Amino acid sequence: MTRHFLADDDLTAAEQQQVLAMAASLKAEPYFLKPLEGPRTVALIFDKPTLRTQASFAAGIAELGGFPMTVDGNKAGIGVRESVADVARVLGRQASQIVWRTDAQSKIEEMARYAGVPVVNALTDDFHPCQLLADLLTISEHKGELAGLTATFLGDGACNMGNSWLLAGALAGMHIRISSPEGYEPSQEMVDRANKLGQETGGTGELVRDPQAAVSGADVVITDTWVSMGKEAEAAERLADLAPYALTAELLAGAKADAIVMHCLPAYRGKEIAAEVLDGPQSVIWDEAENRRHAQKAILTFLQAAQQADGQQD
Ligand code: NVA
Repeated sequence: MTRHFLADDDLTAAEQQQVLAMAASLKAEPYFLKPLEGPRTVALIFDKPTLRTQASFAAGIAELGGFPMTVDGNKAGIGVRESVADVARVLGRQASQIVWRTDAQSKIEEMARYAGVPVVNALTDDFHPCQLLADLLTISEHKGELAGLTATFLGDGACNMGNSWLLAGALAGMHIRISSPEGYEPSQEMVDRANKLGQETGGTGELVRDPQAAVSGADVVITDTWVSMGKEAEAAERLADLAPYALTAELLAGAKADAIVMHCLPAYRGKEIAAEVLDGPQSVIWDEAENRRHAQKAILTFLQAAQQADGQQD
């Protein structure tokens, strides 16, 4: 059966560890694996804006010996000009893997059903699993063992990043605290899904309303834009509602003295995060951005190997 990476928990805890270890090896020696040599083509489709994702996938695919074929999803009109299923059948005949950034999770699930090749989620409204692989790699570089660490995500906990932190963090055995005001919390279903994953790994996921309590004693403090792509019409309301959750130097002082600060970018200084925090000594945001490439090379390598083991490709 073709494997996909549509949500963080499409990997088991052991597979997540394997992918992170491979990412670290690929970072140390970028050209030691060439699973896409040929070159094999990987389709990169973007229905939403992108900088880091496009750049890191394109560079990473080239380093793996492959060819990145970028498709403008809006021009292609996926789900509008033709159905997601038909696009999947067409691209699955041209590319070894399909990487897609879109809105609804149901669309990427449909792509995966019909493509016949691995499909990778490069951000949907619900999840951003490639970012989390990069983030976990970054944490392991700064903190060592992931299991047992506490990470606090501040702000819009109902967005893709909040959900992915819950699932990927719990899978890694971490304690994930989401701190959001009413109306911006993750669904109970997502919190339950994280805690179920945590039964095996020791990880936990919980909502902690009060930002001071949520940050207290944390090893990692994370935030994300308050206005995710597609939410622009709600910008004014969101900025007002989320203001008490801004990551300021004062709030950060409640975390462990050696806590690291993460942000997937793009960041809005003076809104979700103070400039002195984003650009300060505890920030690891540039490592995170670089690690997108290494982490994504590892998941592409993992999926390619699974596909070949399954006899789907020579
Ligand atoms: N939550 C953000 C993440 C950006 C990488 C968004 O969806 O726009």
